[in-house]
Amino acid sequence: MSDQTTAARILVFAGSTREASFNKRLARLGARRLDALGAQATFIDLRDYPMPLYQGDLEAEHGLPENALALRKLLAEHRGLLIASPEYNGFITPLMKNTIDWISRPHEGESGLKLFAGRVAALLAASPGGLGGMRSLALMRQLLSNVGVTVLPDQLAVAKAGDAFDDRGALTDESHQQKLDAICQRLAETTKLFDRA
Ligand SMILES: Cc1cc2nc3c(=O)[nH]c(=O)nc-3n(C[C@H](O)[C@H](O)[C@H](O)COP(=O)(O)O)c2cc1C
Repeated sequence: MSDQTTAARILVFAGSTREASFNKRLARLGARRLDALGAQATFIDLRDYPMPLYQGDLEAEHGLPENALALRKLLAEHRGLLIASPEYNGFITPLMKNTIDWISRPHEGESGLKLFAGRVAALLAASPGGLGGMRSLALMRQLLSNVGVTVLPDQLAVAKAGDAFDDRGALTDESHQQKLDAICQRLAETTKLFDRA
């Protein structure tokens, strides 16, 4: 992994693959901000990594899907994670759970959980609703902690997301932008510290 002179590498993605996803917009803004701060953000769309719903017989017969292996490789190359995800019925999305379930499985003698260890994440959410997906943030935090990721206390939930972005995809509320900037700053700094550990 990197030393003190190289940029903090941060993998950025959303828990929605919808074309016009608010969470993808938020994730992209975060990635841009991280790059501006001197980190090296890699934005990926999980739409490019489709996987079947986890099923034990499928795994026993075919092993991990190619896209799970591709995501594992990406995870291994990044020390930080920035995730923006909507909530479905107050819970994390099935996409997010399924993605983490597949990645966390052992493969060719290598533990999936080992890949998450020593990594640091920051969480964002956006929703057209009044809570901004806030209820799922605690659950996302718990899930990532369970697999060994350190999750920063700072988080942002963007409510009324239909009005929260302008035509160019920027956040219309200055306080949202300031919060996002602060989260990105903290994530970039902490990723660097984790790199050195
Ligand atoms: C099955 C389902 C359940 C949902 N439940 C919630 C919810 O509990 N809270 C909420 O704020 N929005 C909820 N929504 C609305 C989503 O926040 C909304 O569709 C949002 O735009 C999805 O995120 P995206 O724009 O990134 O795709 C739900 C949507 C779906 C499809």
